[in-house]
Amino acid sequence: MLAVGMPEGYRFLHQPDTVAAAVLEKSTWAVLALILEIELFTQEHYRQSIEPDESLSPFFKDIFFFHMKEETTHALMDELEWPREDKKLTPTERERAIGE
Ligand SMILES: [Fe+2]
Repeated sequence: MLAVGMPEGYRFLHQPDTVAAAVLEKSTWAVLALILEIELFTQEHYRQSIEPDESLSPFFKDIFFFHMKEETTHALMDELEWPREDKKLTPTERERAIGE
């Protein structure tokens, strides 16, 4: 949908099915770790690049402010779920999951 409004030469490089297949072949522990990392860096991205930027429109900043707040609830849920998953693993399984 975005390609319609993008400049000449724009290509969407990532194939969603390929990304989904790569993620789904990993352990639940590794997927939860990735998701938590995304939730955390999304918040940090807002705090470092959007919040302090006085040149951005207040409306644009509000959208990302409330998105950042939503991400905090996701991170809280991830931080509850990830330790539960962690307790299921043996040390060997955990080492493999870290590598993933
Ligand atoms: Fe999220």
